[in-house]
Amino acid sequence: MTGPFIRPRRLRQTPAMRRLVAETRLHPSQLVLPMFVADGIDEPRPISSMPGVVQHTVDSLRAAAHDAVDAGVGGLMLFGVPRAEDKDATGSAGDRPDGVLNRGLEALRADFGDETVLMADTCLDEFTDHGHCGVLTESGDVDNDATLRRYESLAVAQARAGAHVVGPSGMMDGQVAAIRDALDAEGFIDMTILAYTAKYASAFYGPFREAVDSSLVGDRRTYQQDPANRLESARELLADLEEGADMVMVKPAMSYLDIVRDVADRTDAPVAAYQVSGEYAMIAAAAERGWIDFDAAIDESVLSIARAGASIVLTYAAPEVARRLARR
Ligand code: PBG
Repeated sequence: MTGPFIRPRRLRQTPAMRRLVAETRLHPSQLVLPMFVADGIDEPRPISSMPGVVQHTVDSLRAAAHDAVDAGVGGLMLFGVPRAEDKDATGSAGDRPDGVLNRGLEALRADFGDETVLMADTCLDEFTDHGHCGVLTESGDVDNDATLRRYESLAVAQARAGAHVVGPSGMMDGQVAAIRDALDAEGFIDMTILAYTAKYASAFYGPFREAVDSSLVGDRRTYQQDPANRLESARELLADLEEGADMVMVKPAMSYLDIVRDVADRTDAPVAAYQVSGEYAMIAAAAERGWIDFDAAIDESVLSIARAGASIVLTYAAPEVARRLARR
């Protein structure tokens, strides 16, 4: 009798065998839930392009956060949605202590203490009337170094409000070093920086713009990365680590799994990847049409992101994925 002598199917025969030889194992604590807290609303507002995701009031944010923490998720990433009339050229609602993001952080820190990891988006686009991630020059360009001064102030405000982690997502040069210096100068030496190391100018952020009522006209290609580039992310990684990043992130995740792998291979720091709004929405929309099984597709996508090298995955489906993982 000749072959096949090599029979990989042996290891696939039963659920128990497959479990035994699984190369990637996810734990609920590796998942982070991005959440939106909005000013000037009385009840949660559904985001139509992200089924199941809402803009929260501070109260509903607290309830949803408790649900997520009960499900075992490892952290919460908070985004603020100010009232339209509170947006201005410099995004001042972002660092005001009574700004909605800072109030949300304060409420969650009061509820949870150190029981979960509270992360804050450290960026201006939610708060500016022009929708860019930075302040503008007179000619309308994003002014890198003037924006750094604003990020410093945002990060310090978020630290005061109770964040454990700041997540600078604006892709300004030098943002990690600037924020580190500002935090240290205010005594926040333990504030952790999750650097958006590789952040691409992606069409998959579409639904997020609805989620934060973004006023952006145009695009972010002068500061976010060109999807054509791979080595550029390695250079961004070196810069972020040198500037003091504690954790690094790749975003989006699903179309950039090669970048996730590159970054994981090049650093020993924790690597996060963000399954962004459009990636979530694609799966949700296909599932609504009955073309794809939502639970199975989300679980598979999150597992794939981990397999590519991320030890932390941000996903809008974090609580339900966590619950399914815990049941296994
Ligand atoms: C910028 C920011 C964005 C996202 C997270 N932080 C929007 C952008 O860069 O255009 C997108 C997240 C998502 O799409 O889920 N503050």
